[in-house]
Amino acid sequence: MKAIQMTDNIFWVGGIDWDLRNFHGYLTQRGSTYNAYLIIDEKITLVDTTKYYLVDEMLQRISKVIDPSKIDYVISNHVEMDHSGGLPAVLKAAPNAQVLCSPKGEQGLKAHYGGEDWNFKIVESGDVLSLGKHSLQFLLTPMVHWPDNMVAYMPEEKILFSNDSFGQHIASSERFDDEFPLEIIVQEAQKYYANIVLPYAAQVQKELEAASKLDIGMIAPSHGLIWKNHIPLIVEKYTQWASNNTDKKAVIVYDTMWGSTKKMAQKIQEAFDEKGYRTVFCSLGNWHISDIMTEVIDAEYVCVGSPTLNKNMLPTVSSFLTYLKGLAPKNRKTIAFGSYGWGQMSVKQIQAELESCGMQITDSFDLKYIPSQEQLQDIYNRVSEKL
Ligand code: FEO
Repeated sequence: MKAIQMTDNIFWVGGIDWDLRNFHGYLTQRGSTYNAYLIIDEKITLVDTTKYYLVDEMLQRISKVIDPSKIDYVISNHVEMDHSGGLPAVLKAAPNAQVLCSPKGEQGLKAHYGGEDWNFKIVESGDVLSLGKHSLQFLLTPMVHWPDNMVAYMPEEKILFSNDSFGQHIASSERFDDEFPLEIIVQEAQKYYANIVLPYAAQVQKELEAASKLDIGMIAPSHGLIWKNHIPLIVEKYTQWASNNTDKKAVIVYDTMWGSTKKMAQKIQEAFDEKGYRTVFCSLGNWHISDIMTEVIDAEYVCVGSPTLNKNMLPTVSSFLTYLKGLAPKNRKTIAFGSYGWGQMSVKQIQAELESCGMQITDSFDLKYIPSQEQLQDIYNRVSEKL
């Protein structure tokens, strides 16, 4: 369990969660890391911790550099337990350490861990903490990803400790963005944004605006690889995702019982294909909803289909729509579709859900039993006319 040197005096000392496959419903097929950073200066400082079950790993890494009891400050950028779970054990190992966090951070940490006897120091945006040769400037970033969030910037080394922002769920022995396939890092950053950060675009834009005034040479997030060589790329991607601008792309999401709804989905896809859209065809029987969201992030259209089963849409479709509604992508168009036998329910229900997501419904198709060639051609024609 080694500490990985980032600069002369700063070390990555986090935990690697190789086996993580489910992060509150998000399929994390590459695992994750909980990044913690140790700063050696007149004041020994730890930025964030790990999930509770990796705290021993983190303390072992810290011990390779310094006796953990010497830690003076623990910066808690975020209360969520993937970053604060190790805090009680760290404070046992470093009983004189002060915990620095936002006002909502203090409330959150006390609600999670008690912590009445912890030595809190509350910081606000613009506050500066001197560590000796280094300093940390704090910026509160509420709702990226919880109300308590903040980031810390170290001007002397040009490092932004960004917590959840710019993170990716990737477990790896590599730590920097030039040591791991860039395409995968960006793909996982997109998935992370789509499944965690998406509802908070306005707050992300404020953070990006504040970050644009900083001279940043390294972005050290709380998950995944550290951005060092591709900072303009990830900032550009975040700017694009936070804008809610979309590409000429349609995501067709459906489930089917006996193939009728799938035939309708294929005809809708064909119409988009013919009009030059990039299309992604997602069967809910096979795709995980968190992977579909990664595709939704830049799609102009999200078309959703289900047959009626027992007066309802299929549970897989209902689950996707619930997830979509929570993540609330803006400025999307949609088509609702599906087949039925005798109870014509699913399409009305899908439409109602999509409307409550704020999506613009451009058409809907509701067909009995098996769609005829004429009916499928009608779907194709009507979708094509609108594109
Ligand atoms: Fe990685 Fe919002 O916690």
